[in-house]
Amino acid sequence: MSTRRLRGAAAASPDPGPKEPIVEFAEVTPYEQYVGVRQLQALVRTVTDHPAEPSFLVVTQVMELWFTLLRREWELAQRRLRADDLDGAVAAIQRSVHHLRSLNASWGSLLWLTPAEFNGFRDELGEASGFQSYEYRHVEFLLGLKAESVVRPHRALPAVHADLERALADPSLEDDVLAFLARRGLPVPTEVLDRDRTVPHEADPVVTGLWAEVYRDPRPANDLFVLGEALTDVAEEFTTWRQRHVTAVRRAMGAKPGTGGSAGLAWLERSAARVVFPDLWEARTVL
Ligand code: HEM
Repeated sequence: MSTRRLRGAAAASPDPGPKEPIVEFAEVTPYEQYVGVRQLQALVRTVTDHPAEPSFLVVTQVMELWFTLLRREWELAQRRLRADDLDGAVAAIQRSVHHLRSLNASWGSLLWLTPAEFNGFRDELGEASGFQSYEYRHVEFLLGLKAESVVRPHRALPAVHADLERALADPSLEDDVLAFLARRGLPVPTEVLDRDRTVPHEADPVVTGLWAEVYRDPRPANDLFVLGEALTDVAEEFTTWRQRHVTAVRRAMGAKPGTGGSAGLAWLERSAARVVFPDLWEARTVL
């Protein structure tokens, strides 16, 4: 954060003591210019006066920002992998694990939400549902959880829709890892490297075997083992997000249908069961 300092009385005194923060600014504070607190506050537009609604809205908005940060880290990891900079990729993936843990901690702010309180503003949400979160879809697509059907709701926002369509067809982080392993000389099957990227990658016995080999040497000096563990942390933390969401839903609305039109709990449980980085999990069975 850059600051242009206006000298105050404290700074001019002969014995200023411990330096005090700057309190004089010719314009809006540099903090405000950088963070945009007024813009953030303007976005907390509740649709009811129910006291439970601000937490629901703010937690949702905060989670959207975490999704954006995750997306940035994983897109950076992809660029580093494509440049054969494994250290740079692992650094971004490991950072993302910390972000995921913070994202997951946000569920704590909704644990108190009872069905009676949720009912107090739920009807006013209309058909709005997290199912329509396009940033969450980017997160899923980067993790290899591809599905054409979840792109469709965003047709009315052409730039968002085009971006998601591109992400659907582009390599996921998992695809970039597999391509990197192949460039490192591991015999990743061609049909895995050239597969249809618009659908999820199923565990492949050859790739599973390759990871099992990597995991036979579980030392920090084995850089592929470190990569595998960073990706496993991502898969575990992301799964935790989905499981905590399911629990939050069960707690706040039981098995009622969702505002987005799904069966609710049963539908979410099925969606949350999809496996992230299946080869890395299968490798544990092989070992
Ligand atoms: C206790 C509060 C919450 C309840 C009761 C709830 C309920 C639901 C339900 C029933 C669905 C299924 C789709 C539907 O028919 O609407 C859903 C999907 C979803 N919700 Fe929530 N939700 C809550 C909080 C959140 C928060 C804070 C977020 C953060 C962005 C979120 C993000 C999502 C996402 C991304 C999906 C799609 C999941 C998938 O496709 O597997 N939800 N939610």
